[in-house]
Amino acid sequence: MDKNSTYTLNNGYQIPIVGFGTIIPKGVETVDAVKNAIASGYRLIDTATAYDNEESVGQGVREAIDENGLSRDDIFVTTKVWNDHHGYKKTKQSIEDSLERLGLDYLDMYLIHWPANKMWHEDWREINASTWLAMEEYYKKGLIKAIGVSNFDGSQLSSLIVDSEVKPVVNQLEYHPGFAQRKAADYSRDLGVNVEAWRAFGGPGSGVLHDLDIIKIGKKYKKSASQVVIRWLVQKEIIPLAKSTNPDHISDNLDVFDFELNPEDMQIIDGISYRKTTFFDPETYHS
Ligand SMILES: NC(=O)c1ccc[n+]([C@@H]2O[C@H](COP(=O)([O-])OP(=O)(O)OC[C@H]3O[C@@H](n4cnc5c(N)ncnc54)[C@H](OP(=O)(O)O)[C@@H]3O)[C@@H](O)[C@H]2O)c1
Repeated sequence: MDKNSTYTLNNGYQIPIVGFGTIIPKGVETVDAVKNAIASGYRLIDTATAYDNEESVGQGVREAIDENGLSRDDIFVTTKVWNDHHGYKKTKQSIEDSLERLGLDYLDMYLIHWPANKMWHEDWREINASTWLAMEEYYKKGLIKAIGVSNFDGSQLSSLIVDSEVKPVVNQLEYHPGFAQRKAADYSRDLGVNVEAWRAFGGPGSGVLHDLDIIKIGKKYKKSASQVVIRWLVQKEIIPLAKSTNPDHISDNLDVFDFELNPEDMQIIDGISYRKTTFFDPETYHS
């Protein structure tokens, strides 16, 4: 396993095993971060309509392709439909807009960012299915290579599978030490759906990168806390989305393929207790 390794999604498409997250203000900061990430070896770039930076992400991807002698199919670009564009017609518009803003001929993956849920929508099931129908259309036309979801709980995911034709390839979930959603990851994988981890470092104030157990484990392997966290996810076969604007952090976070956490250390990280994070509940989040 190395930084060029991929998983095969349930539709046969390949996805890199580590990704780069882009919740970064649009403009030069995002362009530079994406270019640094690709130059360092990241091949999966994760954005979303809601991040309001697709133009900059697209610019970074295109420039990095030129500057590093790569081709478009070396890079896996994900974006997502936001909650105000659920439903068949609006989702089609959202896909068109994302393609345009990114300046790409196709998307590697498109996700429903948040499910419509029971709390806010009596017809949540129909809404999710009609959003999905638009995505299936673009998938069948080859303009999106893989379609998936984010933040779906078990019943939302299994309902969507029953209500539609193409199975989601990925469920992107909040997943990090202190908030390892094992049940959520397991139900996805039991359905043949790969899991991606958002906010792998726990978000502002979570203390994940200052956790004393993680730092102690890192010292043993001569690795930083962030490298231990990424490696922990890689060993669980969960795709981390590591975000940084610092060029040193960007390359360090991918330098995780020369060590292996032993089962005891994996267990210690699994057992880190819940701390205040940015957890949102898929059943109540305003979608
Ligand atoms: N689907 C969803 O609902 C959803 C929600 C949230 C996020 N996401 C995705 O997940 C990605 C990651 O989440 P996130 O951006 O919220 O946060 P994150 O990746 O958990 O954490 C980013 C923070 O960690 C710091 N950091 C990164 N590497 C470091 C290192 N080696 N040493 C020290 N500090 C380091 C960064 O600071 P520096 O920049 O200074 O390195 C930044 O402040 C997002 O960018 C997005 O693509 C998806």
